[in-house]
Formats: sequence, C-alpha cells, structure tokens
Amino acid sequence: MNLLKPILLLFLFMLSTQCQQEKAPEAVVSKRPDPHSFSRPDEAVTKHLDLNLKVDFDQKILSGFARWTISAKDSATTIVFDTRDLNIQKVTLGAAEKETTWTLAEPHPIFGSALTVRIEPKTEMVSIYYATRPEAAALGWMDPAQTASKKLPFLFTQGQAILTRTWIPCQDSPGIRVTYNAAIQTPSGMMAVMSAENPQQQSSDGKYTFRMAQPIPPYLIALAVGELAFQPVGNRTGVYAEPKVLPDAAWEFADMEKMLVAAESLYGPYAWGRYDLVVLPPGFPFGGMENPRLTFATPTVITHDRALVSLVAHELAHSWSGNLVTNATWNDFWLNEGFTVYFERRIMEALYGKDYTHMLALLEYGELQNELEDLGATNPDTRLKLDLENRDPDEGVTTIAYQKGALFLHFLEEKVGRNKFDAFLKQYFKAHEFQTMTTEKFLEYLKTNLPETAGMEATIREWILEPGLPDNAPKPESNRLSKAESAALGTLPSRLQTARWTSHEWVHYILHLPDTLDAAALGKVDQAFNFTRSGNAEILCVWYEKAIRQGYSPQILPQIETFLVEVGRRRFLTPIYKAFKESGQVETARQIFEKAKNGYHSVSRNSIEELLKNG
Ligand code: BES
Ligand code: ZN
Repeated sequence: MNLLKPILLLFLFMLSTQCQQEKAPEAVVSKRPDPHSFSRPDEAVTKHLDLNLKVDFDQKILSGFARWTISAKDSATTIVFDTRDLNIQKVTLGAAEKETTWTLAEPHPIFGSALTVRIEPKTEMVSIYYATRPEAAALGWMDPAQTASKKLPFLFTQGQAILTRTWIPCQDSPGIRVTYNAAIQTPSGMMAVMSAENPQQQSSDGKYTFRMAQPIPPYLIALAVGELAFQPVGNRTGVYAEPKVLPDAAWEFADMEKMLVAAESLYGPYAWGRYDLVVLPPGFPFGGMENPRLTFATPTVITHDRALVSLVAHELAHSWSGNLVTNATWNDFWLNEGFTVYFERRIMEALYGKDYTHMLALLEYGELQNELEDLGATNPDTRLKLDLENRDPDEGVTTIAYQKGALFLHFLEEKVGRNKFDAFLKQYFKAHEFQTMTTEKFLEYLKTNLPETAGMEATIREWILEPGLPDNAPKPESNRLSKAESAALGTLPSRLQTARWTSHEWVHYILHLPDTLDAAALGKVDQAFNFTRSGNAEILCVWYEKAIRQGYSPQILPQIETFLVEVGRRRFLTPIYKAFKESGQVETARQIFEKAKNGYHSVSRNSIEELLKNG
C-alpha cells in the first residue's frame, strides 16, 4: 500500500516527461562559436539567471529550477542549453509558466547533452525544473569525515572549464556572460556562500539569497555549503572557513587587503565590491579557484608561516585577467592564466620584494621545463593558442598556458619597459572589462596600443603559434635558490646556513638532491630535516616524489598514503602517483588510489584513473 503511491507518482512523472520530450534532436542550423558548448548564442542567448535550489546531503542531489532571462532573434524557434547528467523535469515559458516542449540529445561523454527548448516569438523567460545526479562532475560532496570538524558534510562546486552544466542547465561557454540571483536552501547549522554578495552569518532557517550584479561567464557560478563562519581581515576582505580552521585561516591570509590595494594600483580599480576567500576541505581538486568576489581555496595553503599566499595573489589577479576580461574559448586559456601568473608576480613583488618573487618565478620555470620535456618541445599542446576542438578542455590545463604565457608577458615588459607595459595592461583591462578576448583580438590590440612592439611581429607570432619555448625567452634567476641548490649538492647544510630558508628554498633543495642518493642517504636527510613530518604540502609533494623514485618510500609509506587519502589537490596527486608508476610500483599506487578515490573530486579522480590505466 505504502509503496504504491510513489510508484504511481513516478509513473505519472515519467509519462509527463515523455509527452513533453520530442523525438529527434534538431539539426544544427548555425555555427557554434565555441567548440565546447552546444549553445547557439547568435540565435538565442541567456542574459540573467534566477537559480533556486535545495541542497540534499543525504541523497547528494540539488533540485529546483533555473529561470533564465533570454534574448532571442525574432526568427528563433528554439534556445539551446548545455546539460550533462541532469534530470530535467519540465520546462516552462514566461511568467505564466506555460509548459513547452524540449529535447535532450544523446549524451556526449565530455560535452553532455544539448537541451533544445522550443520558444515562442516573444519569449523572454525560460524556467527549467531539474535535479542533479549524485555523480555530477562539478559537485564535491564531502562526508563529515573529510571536514575539519568531522561533524557536518560539505559541498563545493567547481565549474571551470565545462562542469557548470552538470549542476545548472546553462549556455556553458566563457564567451557568454550572465548576471544571477540565487535562493539556496541548506540544512540547518550550515551556511551557503556563492560567487556573489554573501551572508556573513548563519541564517536560522537555512535559507540564503544571493546577487551577482556584474555579468560573468557560467564557469564562475559557484556554491559552497558547510559549517562556515566569517572573519574580516580588512575593509573589503575576509575569510570564510569552518570554525575550527577560521583563526588560522584569518592569520594566514592577513595580507589580502594589501594585495587588493597593490593590485588596484597596478591595473585599475577592483570591479567586484568585496574580495573574500573560502577555505574548503582538503578534497578540493585545485589550489584555488577565482570565483568572483569569493576565491575558493585548498586548506593546504595554510602552513602557519604564510609561505604559500602567492595563491591568493594569483586568484585575486584573476579578478582582472579572467573574470573582467575572459578567454572567449578554452583555446585562449593562456589569456586567463598567463596574464594572471604575470600579474600575481607583480603583486608579490609589490608586497614582498624582488628576491622573494624571483624564487617563485624560478621554481615555476623548472615546472615549465619539466612539462616541455614531458610533452616534447614540438607537441602542438605547447603552443599558447591551443586547438582543443573535440577534446576535453581540461587537456589544455598544463603549465604551458601559465608559465609560457607569463614569460611572454615578461618578455614584452623587458622589450618595451615596465612603465609603458603597465600603462598598456591597465588600459587593456579597462577597454575590455566584462568582455571576452581571443588571442587574435589581443594581438591586434597589442599592435595598435603598444607601438613599441612594431618590428617584433615574427617573434610574437612564434611565441603564440609555435610549440616549445622561443630562444629569446627570459630565464628567471634567483640568488637565494642558487644557494639552496649548491647546498643540495654538498654535504648536509648546517643550521646556520638554513636558518632563514623559506619553504621555497627547501623545495628547491629537495629537487636538487642528487639522483644517486639511495634509501639510506635519504633517510639521513629526513632525520636531519624532518621532511616527512613537514606541515607544508609543497615540501611533502616533492619529498614524497623523490622518496618514491629513489627507493626510500617503503620506510614512509603510511605517511605517503595518509597524504594521498586526505589531500585531493590534483597538482600534488599527479606527481606522486606518477612517481609510483614510473618506478615499477604501479600496484602500490593502485591500492592507495582504491582507498582514496571516493574522497576525490571527479577532476582529480579522472586524472589519476587515466594515469594508472596502463603500465
Ligand atoms: N583557474 C585556475 C584553476 C583551474 C584551471 C580550474 C582550469 C579548472 C580548469 C586557478 O586560478 C589556478 O590556476 N589555480 C592554481 C593555483 C595557482 C596559484 C597557480 C592551482 O589550483 O594549482
Ligand atoms: Zn589561475
């Protein structure tokens, strides 16, 4: 008896979706401007979103509706949205919510299914009622055990590059900008925060409303829900974290306001109002994500010595490069990340000086060299302008866009002088605020607005369109790291020598320890400096990699395993799993991965799965 009612309801529901669902997907009638989105914005484009969702931690489902304000050509009969793994219930038109027909195309494993909705000549509003699935790739559903308090679960979203479509039906292209309002219902005792105007206190009923008044691309729509509290660190800056983490987080990020001021004095006013940061559980797959007004960050940057705060400078810099001026498609990803790394270094230099910034730049130059070696210097993916058509844009997320991109800007700065280059960049951001940018458009703009680059066309084309690194690439130098490097090649350095070392010198030191050191020798180094017990994940990452490759890992396997189970940041996981694989210990890696994978976000899980597949 009790069972009958839900079954009957389900049947009626299926029947109703069947009626509304047309049969064949329609033929593409106009060219899609973005190879990673099914939408056809030249016919009908989204302008504003009203999002209304309930967060169900038990079922790991978000459900509710996305109400889109659209702008369509008179001739348009349909509007196309991107979706992936969504359960669509019904679609209505206008304030009267008249039901309309729609089709969901056969799913593509990476791009998902085009949702084609029939519209009427004057349609301005389309409401899509839907629910996400527990496996939605954007969503990180963390169990209480994966949080700091171990009491309540946690949810975060990760939209970049094309994952927003797994939790919101949208036109998921960075070339399309929308404003949004949202109403989010959470369980009690939790706070929801978004890339929008945020609450600073928990509500009593678990209801939260949000407003993002500036137009942003859908990959920047973001939500985090957990046991969060807020602490200001400056006038316009503050930190959200679990109460247990909050005091440490606020101390670690005390320089946020100064960074904001430095950034503004370089490249013009901050366009987004407040700049806050939320510390997520360690399962977050990235170091940081530049969601507007609210950077999402890994807790692994909290090292109690502010050693890794360049990450904040980086995500803050995206408030200009990326969020204000956005890559038009993922083929132009270097316009987001290369500019941001350059800008990040300028902020770091303003706050902490040249010596310090040169250390960071040289460490990253080493990462670029390794990437070039891995990919091969003639690999087309080592070009700045990428060709990711029919591929997952995640394949374009390499150090090339970041480091080769930044080096190109350093190169231009060297050629034209810092003053001219700064004036150019400031004007570039102003002229294109809230717009999208292609590599070609940037080159045009460079030509007209930085006339000092006249005569450099051939070399600029080489930088952008050719693989590998041009011969004229500037090579960073760092005295402080040179000293660490010599120390690594000699006998164990004395306390006196290392007394003022930051974690960057230690990382460099570990990287340069000779390949010939065996397990016993590495054991002595560990005894002297306690690397295995370091509280700095950057040190742990290079140390574990070294240990695995040089036979010392059996002695410290429990610690390596704990790290891989607790931390989900892909940039740490990849080198460690890879070291196991490349040193004949793939079985060990697989065993650890089996234990760890349920705690990983899909972004990390998929990458490591791929890595461990063969060999
Ligand atoms: N926007 C990126 C993260 C990203 C890129 C997510 C591409 C998905 C696709 C973010 O700004 C970033 O670069 N994060 C870095 C940290 C930074 C200090 C280099 C990271 O997570 O390691
Ligand atoms: Zn970035």
